[in-house]
Parts: sequence; structure tokens; C-alpha cells
Amino acid sequence: MKIKQLIIYVLIGSCLSSCAVPKNNEEAEMQLFVADLMNRMTLHEKLGQLNLPSGGDLVTGTVKNGELSEMIRKQEIGGFFNVKGIKKICELQRIAVEESRLKIPLLVGADVVHGYETIFPIPLALSCSWDTLAIERMARISAVEASANGICWTFSPMVDICRDARWGRIAEGNGEDPYLGSLFAKAYIRGYQGENMKKEDEILSCVKHFALYGASESGRDYNTVDMSRLRMYNEYLPPYRAAVEAGVGSVMSSFNIVDGIPATANKWLLTTLLRNEWGFRGLLVTDYNSIAEMSYHGIAPLKESAVRALQAGTDMDMVSCGFLNTLEGSLEEGKVTEEQINTACRRVLEAKYKLGLFENPYKYCDTLRAQQDTYTAQHRVEARKIATETFVLLKNEKKLLPLRRKGKIALIGPMADARNNMCGMWSMTCTPSGHRTLLESLRLAVGNEAEILYAKGSNIYYDAALEKGAVGIRPLVRGDNGRLLDEALQTAARADVIVAALGECAEMSGESASRTKLEIPEAQQDLLKALVKTGKPVVLLLFTGRPLVLNWEDTHIPSILNVWFGGSETGDAVADVLFGKVNPSGKLTTTFPRSVGQLPLFYNHLNTGRPDPDSCIFDRYSGNYIDESNEPLYPFGYGLSYTNFVYGKLRLSSNILFKSGELTASVTVTNTGDYDGYETVQLYLRDIYADISRPIKELKNYRRIFLQKGESQEITFTITENDLKYYNSELQYVYDPGEFEIMVGTNSRDVQQERFIAE
Ligand code: NOJ
Repeated sequence: MKIKQLIIYVLIGSCLSSCAVPKNNEEAEMQLFVADLMNRMTLHEKLGQLNLPSGGDLVTGTVKNGELSEMIRKQEIGGFFNVKGIKKICELQRIAVEESRLKIPLLVGADVVHGYETIFPIPLALSCSWDTLAIERMARISAVEASANGICWTFSPMVDICRDARWGRIAEGNGEDPYLGSLFAKAYIRGYQGENMKKEDEILSCVKHFALYGASESGRDYNTVDMSRLRMYNEYLPPYRAAVEAGVGSVMSSFNIVDGIPATANKWLLTTLLRNEWGFRGLLVTDYNSIAEMSYHGIAPLKESAVRALQAGTDMDMVSCGFLNTLEGSLEEGKVTEEQINTACRRVLEAKYKLGLFENPYKYCDTLRAQQDTYTAQHRVEARKIATETFVLLKNEKKLLPLRRKGKIALIGPMADARNNMCGMWSMTCTPSGHRTLLESLRLAVGNEAEILYAKGSNIYYDAALEKGAVGIRPLVRGDNGRLLDEALQTAARADVIVAALGECAEMSGESASRTKLEIPEAQQDLLKALVKTGKPVVLLLFTGRPLVLNWEDTHIPSILNVWFGGSETGDAVADVLFGKVNPSGKLTTTFPRSVGQLPLFYNHLNTGRPDPDSCIFDRYSGNYIDESNEPLYPFGYGLSYTNFVYGKLRLSSNILFKSGELTASVTVTNTGDYDGYETVQLYLRDIYADISRPIKELKNYRRIFLQKGESQEITFTITENDLKYYNSELQYVYDPGEFEIMVGTNSRDVQQERFIAE
């Protein structure tokens, strides 16, 4: 052992008895540095580090904080979020490092969720690309732009599994599958944090919302969650755990309760599971004002809630100021220990150290970078390309799509010319005036070859009050309902083909945007029906942040292209796909129901003791509905292409998987259509008999392949016992020897199957 390292170990042993043994020099140096700094801090200054107020430029909640600069001078904050503008941010950082007693730099957070100025598709859409590299690239570009604009900490990724489309925040996650959710969680973190957060364009990532937030009862935001440990371990926790394994630097606890206790103060969740079982060593921050909200949960008023949050393992208090204003008193009363406060403070300081802020507090304050690295041509090209990968072709009868650039095309609908609505939720950092509307992009794409006619056609809702709530911070100019429809029909009458751009507006999904009705709002449906009645071919360009109920549309509209919210480059990306420059390849990561009454609906469900014998006919005393089939409208993994992919026979290398051995499953896929394109070949497994009831299928692997027209490729998946493991009734991660079903196909419904025995 080198002398220097030895000295460091001895020093640390004497000053930090509670620290884990340092892993290496760098860690030891950090611990020494932080311990030395903390020795010089007053209790009030330490509590200041635990305080994270909102700057209030970008409003995301109901609480506003006072003047930041004064608090910074007094060292009463450890960081802030929701401030936009590098000059403003850097001035606040300057006050911290030049005008406060100990000159401790600040963490600067923001919800850079799917881009900063260059906005990428919403996360649910991104997940439909099934392209981990694309997700990593989008996170990398987001980090480059955010860091160039003063931000060193993003509250992303959100990895909450969601199976209930009523919940507006389904838009922010990766859908319903734990396997995909885990892969994508890792991709986000690699992109944001880069190698080790050392470079000037690498930032701290924050996985959220820990935990189970996506399972809120009745899809109502912030609502109660109640879940068995088995379901948690097998279905909901894997993506958070994957994030920890990928080295995420921070975790945000969730608003909901877990086992009756708000996650914010749930010691089992935050300490036993996250820190002790999973080994998370980073920074743990609450969600917005959630310590104060514990009083509404019926737990305790602010002072006691702050005690409970700290004792549970929370380090940083977002917005409530409970830590700053009450922990001193609680310490005097013996309700918390100095050690607990020190531990939380140390983790905040370590996060700053890892980002290199002590070395260079102005690391993220390069105004030249702000100009050069924001919304660059190259970033926009990437965003456009990635957006095209996320669109899901739900229907394409008689090959109506792609459209030819000729004749007259009527673009009709409230989203056709809605510049401020293209990016979807969590895009407060972007400047809509910088990007094109769909109408502008389509006109640019066709040039002189075709004419694009336009009419708005309808409001989002007939009712102005309802619409006001739905559009939130992104209002649309309303027109007279009757006049809008008349104009649309006159426009349609002049056209050869109609493209209807409608669905949800941007703020109808995301935080606090739950819905009980999942059809396209009536005003727009009436428009759609009137357009279909004209007898002209209609393409539905669906804008949405969640699965919708599209039964009527699926029956009556020949082509449906779901474009979600594609980000700042939506217009050009839609043009690329609409006119066939890019062949759509997105596959759903979330099930589209036939009825709200089916929710929660997800592909990887358990069987009942009375499975549904025929999905079309009601069968009394089976697990089905009198008035609706159990089947979704569009299943998980579903998505069409302009070309056709034909699957050969599924072949297994053996019918036995020997212990510690492997077997392979192969299938040949051929592109038999007229376009080159991507196909996502999916592999599912089912454990026939097990210690606990197991899902009827679970995604275990997939391959996204590019096939030129006429081309074939053999795809081979390797299966090992790791693919069979799950948490059994004793919460042991094992597999049960016995029979398994293996399924391969183009989506979770259309599969071929074989069986094998695992020894
Ligand atoms: C509340 C949201 O739940 C969370 O996702 C977000 O990061 C914070 N507000 C900060 O804006």
C-alpha cells in the first residue's frame, strides 16, 4: 500500500468513524475533503446544505420560495432548481462561492426530462423506439445542452412502471415492462452522467420516483399505492435497481405511500432496501414539498415529518424547508442525532465533489458553450431522426401510407399548427419560437410538388373551461366550434387526401394530468367523423401522451400513425415518415385498451383460476366482462411497418436447459415487402408451474434489426437460467426447474411457441 493512501486511511479512520471503508484513493480524498469542510461548518450551515428550494422561473408546483440570493449568502441552501438562464444561474453560483462564509458551490437542478432546448420525443415515445443507443444519445445531448446552460443535475430518468393509462405521468416513463424499463434506465444514466461526471458536459442524474409511483390507485396522480412485496420485487422495482447498478448519482423519493408510509419517510424503502440491500451510496432527495405534504397523509405536521424523513434516510428536502427550519429544534429535543444530520450533509457535499464543483464552481458557467452547444444543427438532426423511430404505425389499410407528394393534401386538426404543443410535457426549458409547426414542415417537405391545405377544424374540447385546464401553460387560440368544422369541411372538399392531426394537447399528459375518459375528446371525434363522411381517404396523425381508446378510429380510419409528442423537430420527423423517407418502426411499450373499464391492463399479467376461454364471447364464471373482451386493442410490442416481415419456424437447439447451461432459440425473419425497414423481434418466456403464480408471458430479450427489402436474417437468442429467475414466496431470486414456454414474434400477441424443460 502506498504511503499516501495509508496516511489517508488513518486520517479518515480518526475523523469519520461512520464512513464505509474507502474504495480507492479518489474516494478517500473525497471523504477527507468533505470531513475537513464539515468540521468547519456550523449546524445551521449543515442544515442549509440539505435545503433545495425552487427558483420559481419554471413553475412546476404550488409553492414559491423567497429571494434566493439572501439565502445563499447565509448558506441556507445546498442548491436550487427551476431557474432558467446561464447568467442568472452563474450569478447565484458567484454569490455562493464569493459572498458566503465557506464558499460552498451550489447544485443547480432542473427537469431536463427529454431535452433542454433541443427537445426529443416524450419518454414514453422514446421507449417505443426500443433503441437503447438512441435513448443514450438523447440523454447525452440533453446533458451537453443543460450543462452548457448552467445545469448540473437533472431530475431524470423517471422509471415508474405504469399499467394504467388514466395516469398522466405514464407519458414520462418507459411503459409497462420491467425488463425494458431496466435497460432504458441504464441508457439514460450512461447518457447523462457520461463516464464519471468529471467532464464539463457530464451531469448528475436522478432516478425517480422511488418507488411505485406509477401504481397509484385509479390512475389519479399522487394517489395511494398498496402493493405486495412479490409484485414490487418482480414487477415494479427492477428499473430503479437497474439505475442504482448503473451508478446513478441521486434518487428522488416519490409522493405516494408505500406500505402505508409516505415514501419520503419510509425507512424500509430508503434505507433497508435502497441503501443496505442495493448498496446505493449517492444523494437522496425528496420530491416537491413532500415532507410538508406528510401532514395531509395524516402522518405528522412539518416538524415531526422532517424528523421522520431524515431518520428514514433522506438527505435533501425539496421545497418544504422543513429540514432547514425545524431540525435544529428537533436535535435539541433529542429527536434526531447530529450523526444523522452529518450523514445527510456529507452526501450532499459528496455529490458536489463528484461533479468537480469544489475544484471549479464555474464548471457549468461557460457562456460561450451556452451559445455554441444549444439547439445546434447537429442536435436537431439527431432529434429528428430519433423522433421518427418513436412513431408507431397502428393501422395502414390498403397501404394508404406513405403519402405521395402530389395533388392536394388537407392538414386538419388542432395540432396541425400548434407550435407550442409539439414538445409535450416537461419542455419548459425550450423556446417554441425556434421550431417549426407541422404545417410549416409539411409545406417545406412537399415544396412545389403538392399543395398542403390547412384548417384547424376543432378546438381540443367543445367546452372552453375544460380546454383551459387541458392546455395548461400552452394555450391554443380557440375558435367558434361550428365555424371551425365548416372551414374544415370546405378545406377537405378541395383535397385528395386528408391528414387529421389531433388527439391530446401537450399538457393533457404529464404531472397532474389524469383522465377518466380516454377517447379522443368529442369535439375532435366529431371532426374526424365528419372528415371520414366525406369519403376521402383519412390518415389520423395521433398526438397523445398515453394510450387512448381508439375503437371507433380503428374501425373507420384506414391509417393511424401515433406520433406521441415528438419534440422540437416533430414537424420534420412527421414529414419524413408521412412521405416515406423513413419507414416507421416503433413498437408499443404500453398496452392500448378497448375500454377504460379494462384498466389496469398489461400484457405480463397472471392467469386467474378461470381463464377466459374465448376473448370474443362472454362466458359466465370465467374471468372476463359481460360487455367487453379481455383483449387490448393494440397489444404491448405492437407496431406496423410500411413493409412486411415474415417469420420462419421457431427452432430450439434443445428441449432441455441443463443446469448452468444454455439453449438457443432461432428464427429467420424476411422482409417481403417493398421498403427497407427495422423490425423488433421479441422473445417472451412463461414459467408453466412455479412456487408462485407467474405471468402468462414476460419479455426476456429482443433484437432490433434492419432488413433491406427481400433480405432475410437468422436471429438467435441464447437462454440461460438467469432468464428464468424471479423472486419466490421467500423473496429468494431463484428459478423453479420444470417446464417453460418460449415465445417469439413481432409483438406480444402474435408469437410462435415451443416448450423446454429446465433442469
Ligand atoms: C414534482 C415532480 O413529481 C418531479 O418529477 C419533479 O422532478 C419535481 N416536481 C421538480 O420539478
